[in-house]
Amino acid sequence: MPSKDRDRQTLRGFLGMVQEHYPRDFLRIAETVDSRLVPTAIVFELERQGRDPVVVFDRLDGKSMPCVTNIAASRTLLAACLGVPPAELPTAFRERCQTYIPCETVTDPAWDEVVIEGEAVDLALLPIPYQFTVDAAPYITAGQLTARDPETGVDTTGFHRLMLKGRNRLGVSLHSRRRMYEFHRRAEARGQALPVAITIGIHPLHYMGSMVYAYPPNVRKFEIIGGLFGEPYRLARCGVGDLEVPAGAEMIIEGEILPDVREPEGPFGEFTGYASFRSTQNVFVAHRIRMRRDAMFHSVTSGMSKDHILVSCITREGEILNALRRNLPNVKAVHVPHSTCGAFVAIVSMKKTAEGEPQMAIMAALGTELYTKYVIVVDDDVDIFDINDVFWAIATRVRAEKDIVLIPGVKGAILDPSSDPTDFTLTKMGIDATRPAGRDFAERLVIGDEDRARARAILERAGLQA
Ligand SMILES: Cc1cc2nc3c(=O)[nH]c(=O)nc-3n(C[C@H](O)[C@H](O)[C@H](O)COP(=O)(O)O)c2cc1C
Repeated sequence: MPSKDRDRQTLRGFLGMVQEHYPRDFLRIAETVDSRLVPTAIVFELERQGRDPVVVFDRLDGKSMPCVTNIAASRTLLAACLGVPPAELPTAFRERCQTYIPCETVTDPAWDEVVIEGEAVDLALLPIPYQFTVDAAPYITAGQLTARDPETGVDTTGFHRLMLKGRNRLGVSLHSRRRMYEFHRRAEARGQALPVAITIGIHPLHYMGSMVYAYPPNVRKFEIIGGLFGEPYRLARCGVGDLEVPAGAEMIIEGEILPDVREPEGPFGEFTGYASFRSTQNVFVAHRIRMRRDAMFHSVTSGMSKDHILVSCITREGEILNALRRNLPNVKAVHVPHSTCGAFVAIVSMKKTAEGEPQMAIMAALGTELYTKYVIVVDDDVDIFDINDVFWAIATRVRAEKDIVLIPGVKGAILDPSSDPTDFTLTKMGIDATRPAGRDFAERLVIGDEDRARARAILERAGLQA
C-alpha cells in the first residue's frame, strides 16, 4: 500500500494534511522546552491570541522523541478530517458515527519496530508534559485505553488520564463510568485483572469516535471510527488479552489494570477548570512498550483548553440531537458551550408547535447521559451559539414558577465539583425559555436584512468599513 494511503488513518497522516493544506495551523517549536508547565502555557497563550494550531515540540527537556499537542482544538481542522466545511461538522459527525463499518485486521503494524519489555520498561523516558502546578505528577493525557468486556468480548477504546507513578506503574481514573469502568468492574468481580493496551499517537477521527457514548453494546467503537473514516479502521493484534489496536499508532503500552488495588491518584487539572482530587484510583501496570523507530508522543493539553473540550462539545451536540430528533422532529439544533466545560449545559432550539414539547426535550436531553446537568430550550428565533441571545430569552420568556423543573438525586459527574462528595448525585434542571404557544406574546424587535444592508452602505460611504 502506498505510504500516503497507509497514513490516511494515522497521526502523521493528519500532520501531513495540516502542513500541506493548512500551514498556518501548524507550529513546530524546535528549541528545547521545559516539559514542566511550558507546553500548556504556550497552548493557552495561543488560544488567548485566537489561534489553535497543532503544536509539535521537537525537544521537551532535550528528549529526542517529539511531543505533539493541540490536534483537536480547531473546528476547521476537525471538519477537514471529515472533508466537510466547519459549519457542517456536528451534522456530518452525527450522521457518520451511526454507520458502523467492520474493521480490517492487518499483520504489519507500524508500532512493531521497537519492543521494550520487562525491566527495560521505563515510562519516565517518554516526553510527558507536567501540565498544571496542581498536578500530582506528569500525566499521559492522550492514552487510548482498549480492553474487552470480560462477559461479551466486545472491546472499547477511550482516553483515561494516566499519572506517572513509577517505571512501569500508572495511576488511572475511570471516573466517566462508561464502558472501561464497567469492564474493570466485571473483571474485578471475577477476581481478575483487566488486560489493557494503551495506544498513543492517533488520528483526530479516532479521538472523536472514542467520545461517542450512545451506541448499542454489541458495536465496537473501532467500527464507529471506521464510519468516520468512511472505510474499515485498520487494526492489529497486540500481545495482551487478545486485543486489537490501531495498526498505524505511534506506540502502544501493553499491561493490565489490577483488581482490588486502589492507590491515591491526582490531583489533576481537569476540563472543569478545577484541580480534580476525585478519582476511581485504579492502577495500571505496564509489561511491554512497542513503538515505531521514529515514534512521536501525543499529549492532550488539559484543563479547559479547546484541545480537551471541543470534541466533547461536538459529540454531545450530536448525541443529544440524535436523542431528541427521535420524538421531536421540530428540534432545530443543540449547542453545548465551551464555557460549560463542553459538558454541563445543553441549549436546544426548537420550533415549538404545542405546549409541553420543551418539557419532552428537557427529559430526553437530561436522560442522554450523566454529564448533561442543565437543559435550556429556546425558540428558533434565538441564536443558540450566541450566549447573549440565550440569556435574553431566559430573561424575558421564563416564568420561574412554571418554566423551571428540578430533578434532585440524579447520578452526576464525579468531576463536577458541585456533585455530592460522597455519592456524586446532584440536582438536574430544565429551563423552558420558549414563548407560550397559541397566544400572543410580546413582539420581538428586529431590524430587517434590507435595512441592515442600507445601513451598511451608508456606513461604508461615511468611511466605516465592516
Ligand atoms: C483528553 C480526554 C481525557 C479524558 N480522561 C478521562 C479520564 O481520565 N477518565 C475517564 O473516565 N474518562 C476520561 N475521558 C472521557 C472518556 O474518554 C470518554 O467518556 C470515553 O467515551 C470513555 O470510553 P469508554 O466507554 O471506553 O470507557 C477523557 C476524555 C478526553 C477527551
